[in-house]
Amino acid sequence: MKFHGRDIISIEDFSREEITYILNTSKTMEAVASKGSDMLKGKILATLFFEPSTRTRLSFEAAMLKLGGSVIGFAEAEIASVKKGENLADTVRTVENYADVIALRHPLDGAAKLAAELAKVPIVNGGSGSEEHPTQALIDLYTVQKEKGKIDGLKVALVGDLRYGRTVHSLAYALSLYDIELHLISPETLRMRREVLRAIQNKIAVTEDSNLEKVIPKIDVLYVTRIQKERFPDLAEYAKVKGTYKIDLKTVAAAKKDLTILHPLPRVDEIAPEVDSTPQARYFQQVYNGVVVRMALLALVLGAVR
Ligand code: CP
Repeated sequence: MKFHGRDIISIEDFSREEITYILNTSKTMEAVASKGSDMLKGKILATLFFEPSTRTRLSFEAAMLKLGGSVIGFAEAEIASVKKGENLADTVRTVENYADVIALRHPLDGAAKLAAELAKVPIVNGGSGSEEHPTQALIDLYTVQKEKGKIDGLKVALVGDLRYGRTVHSLAYALSLYDIELHLISPETLRMRREVLRAIQNKIAVTEDSNLEKVIPKIDVLYVTRIQKERFPDLAEYAKVKGTYKIDLKTVAAAKKDLTILHPLPRVDEIAPEVDSTPQARYFQQVYNGVVVRMALLALVLGAVR
């Protein structure tokens, strides 16, 4: 298994054994996160975020700081030389001279792959268009493993915007490596991308529906997503599906007592705040897990953990 110097572009690039290794390394980072470490002293992470982010950028930065490294970067392209017309290729070929690893978020599908082809340092995809968000999928798996003690044997529902939501694409690919039953719940117009569906349905049992009520009593994990308003070419289409799903106390009451509710966040109105104080709501624990998983990834790609 080789992680040192490796790009993290698509979750499809990782085998189940490699994912297990990342999840186990993340577990060892729980103790390191509370004490701090100088494991990555002298190393620099550049965060190049061409799209808004709270969790991905800040948790990558927190992860690097907890491992004793340093952070540079920008949180909006408006303040970088991109504003003067510099393209992604030149930005990457410049920043690789300043940093040992680059975490990149970009609105275009394929941007992370292009950056990885050009850069001499590892590129970590922090979200590329509506395509993939592989590090979020690793956080999601880590959270499921931690909450349920296993991933195999579970019934999981992905709910909301399965067309434009990049986290569900990476998570669906990742879950297809396990023995699970997957329920894809979305409005008709926001069905799972066909290439993702084709890739997973030969490996695991998958159903598609618009009706959450039908599956809620039997599932173990409910993964809720925001409808991605910013990615709709036509806002009239967004208006038709806005607010389709709202997880509230009635949803929780209809589910198994040990249901785990996850959300990559940010949320808009798809989970009512009244759900936050239930034992089923684990999305803020999922946020915490983002730090330890990203600590593991940085330590692995920079060769501090082998
Ligand atoms: N989950 C996630 O990607 O959140 P941010 O957009 O805040 O980074």
